[in-house]
Amino acid sequence: MKRVVAIYPGTFDPPTNGHLDLIQRGARIFDELIVAVLRNSEKTPLFTVEERQEMLRECTGQWHNVRVESFEGLLVDYARSLGAQAVLRGIRAVSDYEYELQMAWMNRKLDPSLETIFMMPAGAYSYLSSRLVREIAALGGALVGMVPASVESRLRARLGVAGQFSK
Ligand code: PNS
Repeated sequence: MKRVVAIYPGTFDPPTNGHLDLIQRGARIFDELIVAVLRNSEKTPLFTVEERQEMLRECTGQWHNVRVESFEGLLVDYARSLGAQAVLRGIRAVSDYEYELQMAWMNRKLDPSLETIFMMPAGAYSYLSSRLVREIAALGGALVGMVPASVESRLRARLGVAGQFSK
């Protein structure tokens, strides 16, 4: 039988419970799911690619068909190098749809054999984003239910130190 390998690409700065919800759903559907952190020299992230991979590995160890990697360059090239047939992306609300559709069409243009599969996270995560999590953490707000405890303590450590320096 054919094995279906999918890539779940993203920035994951930091990983949220919404990302983990999608990983769990993807792990049920695909034979192998590769969570791939983009190495993007243009953005200045809060966490390094290695830290983001560590956080994702800490939170996905229970799913044996999930692997955490990083990539640079075009997603379609990375997918080809892994023999992956599908890209998994999450859609939380209609507002995600336009950007996601544009990327999916572009990836299809670049490699018509690669399918993009959209999945919805649980409704409780439909408002959650890494950007808002970073903002709430920086302003000292509660992150209950938004990120795993290990990610929360890394956020507090990172932003706590930054806060002291900025005073
Ligand atoms: O979590 P994000 O930031 O929404 O993820 C965006 C990501 C990593 C999926 C996208 O930027 C990407 O695939 N970048 C790799 C470069 C590439 O292939 N660009 C063309 C995509 S149409």
